[in-house]
Amino acid sequence: MRQHVIRSQDFTLEDLAQIFRRADKFRHMMDEPDGRRRLRKRLRGRIVNVAFYEPSTRTLSSFVNGAQHLGAQVFHTADAGATSSAVKGETFAHTVRMFAGYRPDVLVVRHKEEGRLAEGARILRRIGSRTHLINAGDGPGQHPTQALLDVYTLQRELGRVDGIKIMMGGDLKHGRTVRSLAYLLTRYRDVVITFAAPEDLQIGADILAHLDEHGVKYQLLGAEFRDALAAQHAVYWTRLQLERVVHEDVAEQKRLRDALAHLQREQFCIGERDLHLMRIDAVLMHPLPINDAVREIALEVENDERCAIFRQAENGMYVRMALLDILVNG
Ligand code: NCD
Repeated sequence: MRQHVIRSQDFTLEDLAQIFRRADKFRHMMDEPDGRRRLRKRLRGRIVNVAFYEPSTRTLSSFVNGAQHLGAQVFHTADAGATSSAVKGETFAHTVRMFAGYRPDVLVVRHKEEGRLAEGARILRRIGSRTHLINAGDGPGQHPTQALLDVYTLQRELGRVDGIKIMMGGDLKHGRTVRSLAYLLTRYRDVVITFAAPEDLQIGADILAHLDEHGVKYQLLGAEFRDALAAQHAVYWTRLQLERVVHEDVAEQKRLRDALAHLQREQFCIGERDLHLMRIDAVLMHPLPINDAVREIALEVENDERCAIFRQAENGMYVRMALLDILVNG
């Protein structure tokens, strides 16, 4: 495994197998008092610094709780964008360099700008730091640890990843989780991806080029995506990333956001009738949060056994524990 976790295309199939094996092992250990005691020794004496410059619930708390279950000392800043020296005009480059000087074993960062984490990794390499940097989301760029937990969830729910048909829907233009997941799925054999989104929110050309390069089959659909639901083993839905729809004119920005929200509400939500179209052994996933004002997955749908959203979120902690452990202990 590489020193830093920045992009999901850097994981090999062997890396993935190792992470998932370790996650399974930790899940079982957490169920036993003796296992929990042994887990707490794995990162004893280690320091994990978690700095988030964008809102988060699951990613932040699963990293913090996971690191604590492993016995690490955790320092975390949930709203670094508002409380760190970034407000005083400090560059991210300075912040990372300084963090590294305090010598945490792992630095987990979420940033609002794409590419900042890659810049951070370059700086750490240049100064010869031994700290591991983990990308917990860089704006509309990537979210590699989410992709890990998504693939781990596919594997657990479906028993395989090779050969699956998966539909990804919602805001594919601004959502980083679908991007990272699409990259990771190229590692598996015969996966077929359907991207379902309004034209203005379709998946980026960079992702499609990557899929072409790796011989992954895909199709792009609009509101007619329902015709393809019955064929899917997995349906991965996402929230409209309203905060990434920005316009210098405030009134225009509001108009754009309202129009997109209306479009998703009317045409791109998963409701009860869609459940009837889906295979009885399909899995429905969502990285969360679901926007309650749009309800891209209807409340009634959440109670269906195929809806794995909370199992998926829980898987996130075991996968992140595994990742921290492998980076530090090998
Ligand atoms: C996602 C994110 O932050 O990209 N949330 C998460 O980490 N589970 C998805 C989102 O914000 O829509």
